[in-house]
Amino acid sequence: MSFVRVCGLSELTEDTPKRVELDGTPVSVVRTEGEVFAIHDICSHANVSLSEGEVEDCQIECWLHGSSFDLRTGKPSGLPATRPVPVYPVKIEGDDVLVSVTQES
Ligand code: FES
Repeated sequence: MSFVRVCGLSELTEDTPKRVELDGTPVSVVRTEGEVFAIHDICSHANVSLSEGEVEDCQIECWLHGSSFDLRTGKPSGLPATRPVPVYPVKIEGDDVLVSVTQES
């Protein structure tokens, strides 16, 4: 599993997702509740960028139809999305946020 630096920790604003691309994979990086999460940036229901949605209670909401995805598991909490979105491991090293997208596709 190879971790790649995606941004600095100080570049992340609490509860404001940041969209990055890793090897062509769009990833939403979210700092919330004292942790940093990385979730695939495309909703499992349609081609919508999750990083444009709101973050609350460790979930990110798809702005189009309102499904929320758990940032820890990628599971949707309600319809219309029924499939999970991949989540990726995150490492913090000093001020560097590193993400690995090689495990999931
Ligand atoms: S596109 Fe995300 S819930 Fe419909």
